[in-house]
Amino acid sequence: MFITKFAIPDIIFGHGAILSLAQCARRVGARRILLVSDKGLEAAGWVERVIDILESDGLEVVYFNNVRPNPRDYQVHEGAEVYARERCDVIIALGGGSSMDAAKGVGTIAGNGGRIRDYEGANRIMRPLPPMILIPSTAGSGSDTTQYCIITDVERQVKMSIISRSLVPNISIIDPDLLLTKSRGLILSSAIDALAHAVESYVSKLASPFTDLHSSNAIKLIIENIKPAAADRNIDALERLSIASTSAGMAFSNAGLGSLHALAHSLGGMYDIMHGMVHPVLLPSVMRFNMHACARKMGVIGRLILGDASRSDENAAQAGVDKLEELFNDLGVNTHLRQLLPDQSNLAGICRMATRDACHLTNPRDAQWRDLLSICEEAW
Ligand SMILES: [Fe+2]
Repeated sequence: MFITKFAIPDIIFGHGAILSLAQCARRVGARRILLVSDKGLEAAGWVERVIDILESDGLEVVYFNNVRPNPRDYQVHEGAEVYARERCDVIIALGGGSSMDAAKGVGTIAGNGGRIRDYEGANRIMRPLPPMILIPSTAGSGSDTTQYCIITDVERQVKMSIISRSLVPNISIIDPDLLLTKSRGLILSSAIDALAHAVESYVSKLASPFTDLHSSNAIKLIIENIKPAAADRNIDALERLSIASTSAGMAFSNAGLGSLHALAHSLGGMYDIMHGMVHPVLLPSVMRFNMHACARKMGVIGRLILGDASRSDENAAQAGVDKLEELFNDLGVNTHLRQLLPDQSNLAGICRMATRDACHLTNPRDAQWRDLLSICEEAW
């Protein structure tokens, strides 16, 4: 086996975990905190709650909320200016992948200077970031546990993958109660994003026995709990989706992703599509493309999806993808690329761009841009 690594933050998990926030902030040396969040969490009352928890403990809070889905480079630069001007010493993010990635971008500039595009790719951050505590409000992105940060370069219309050990936060506080205020659509798209993380990391070229455990655990939990969680926000099912999303995050942070995420970043950069909506469209086609390059592992995934341990690898792999398509149809999510894009005019450019994304490097089967185009055409 090649030499491997497994980096994760301190993880505090459970109902009411958010109450430990002030203590966590003090532990990493906070006096004046930059809190990054968004209007959705303000409306749900969570921002006020977090500020109250911190201020009641004598900590100062500077609030930054100029963050939107698919966070932009200029928002990161603006947040970094606020951090420096206000002389903050710790960053806390409360939100989904967008707020957490924006906060990581702010931390990157605060610790290293320059512009965020200077750090695109793997291992280009040379100096440490300020201490960071991330509080996810969705069970999907896994950003609170990973060394990934995805920021849109507006000028180039590219979602940049920034990957560095320095981007693993100090502490992740995961409180499943935050999921109770989310819509059915957001619960579904987040869970399917986490499923894509689990599947891609399981078959990644850099997967290890340490990441395999988490990837397979996440696949099993998501398949078992996605329907009850979406149907009536069943709190036990939501908690298991939180565990799944965290497991998937730990796995892909250390094993990498694949061509599905490379395509999702490329599509999101050009069309501003919500990240989690791409996966039910492309995941089955990417799994079919990869199938023979990792037949044994695709068999394991198939058996997890089917809940049937008796099938052969080949039979389980094929039937597992069919069953996954059936599940996406049952859930009523988009399953065709034509539902997300106006036409096919930019597909070739999107696929060429995807081959330059860092996630593409760890796909189990080498793929040229024309292979990716075939995947997109199959999913059209
Ligand atoms: Fe993702």
